[in-house]
Amino acid sequence: RDASSVLTDPELAESVQVGLERVERLLHTVLQSDFEFVTEASLHLVEAGGKRIRPLFTLLAAHFGDAEHEDVVTAAVVVELIHLATLYHDDVMDEATMRRGAVSANARWDNAIAILTGDFLFAHASKLVAGLGTEAAEIIAVTFGELVTGQMRETVGPKPGQDPVEHYLKVIAEKTGSLIATAGRYGAMFSGADEKSIVALQRYGEVIGTAFQISDDIIDIASPAVESGKTPGTDLREGVKTLPMLYALEEEGPRGDRLRELLAAPITEDDLVTEALRLLRESEGMERARQTVYSYADQARDELAYLPSCPARSALEGLADYVVDRTK
Ligand code: FPP
Ligand code: MG
Ligand code: MG
Repeated sequence: RDASSVLTDPELAESVQVGLERVERLLHTVLQSDFEFVTEASLHLVEAGGKRIRPLFTLLAAHFGDAEHEDVVTAAVVVELIHLATLYHDDVMDEATMRRGAVSANARWDNAIAILTGDFLFAHASKLVAGLGTEAAEIIAVTFGELVTGQMRETVGPKPGQDPVEHYLKVIAEKTGSLIATAGRYGAMFSGADEKSIVALQRYGEVIGTAFQISDDIIDIASPAVESGKTPGTDLREGVKTLPMLYALEEEGPRGDRLRELLAAPITEDDLVTEALRLLRESEGMERARQTVYSYADQARDELAYLPSCPARSALEGLADYVVDRTK
């Protein structure tokens, strides 16, 4: 299932498709450089695909104001560029070799190239946001700080005695929720939506982003690479304890015991990764994590209450269902 399947209204679908095409064109034009290799490395992940959830959300949020405003597309591109930049860096930190069904930049070239490419994308996002004014620039700067803080918090891990689930939820609100919140805020802001709509869309974004990341973490355990486009078990290898794992670690009995043993440190051996993945898939932690996704998706839908009933609102409700069902 594709994210654009939420566009059930033909007129809305047409408008959003046109917007997404403009996003693609602008993404390509801003990454042109007189040094061709920089462009090639930058376009690597752009062209590997990706769901374009954030631009889609920005465009949908703009339907609560004047959706045709030119800055909406620019704002969507700023958000996608920041997202792409973090993916280049994330794959270095996670030592990931696959992304979006393609080889990751760090695996195709090396860490230095991947890091510099992320920086290049970030530079271009900054250049583009300058044209949107100081408020937009401040918003993205704050968001970027949150994102980095979330990543730092994940890398460092919970403090001794800290509730690991609480730590995890904080990490994902920062590393994923913050940018998706800004995607919605930008769409509403640049279409001239009223203040209450801006806040509602921003809050919806933060909560849906949290749901989105939990399903990403379920996918890392449950989905084969052909489905997700990423190598399963990356979180296990990095020693990152995601929500399904934290729940599985609470389980009593022999399966819980073996998982506590296996997950005590990052797993390097393929056989042990396979064993841990099998035990996790069978564990109650998966179902509990799915229930948590449902509850965040419901909460996200609740945030839409202030907004008028319209095709764009229905699409955002559909996006909440999509996040719950997605397998890639
Ligand atoms: C994906 O998580 C990672 C993020 C959403 C944020 C990563 C943030 C940084 C790397 C901050 C530094 C960035 C720059 C450009 C200075 P994941 O690893 O769980 O997702 P995955 O399954 O898609 O790999
Ligand atoms: Mg990763
Ligand atoms: Mg990561």
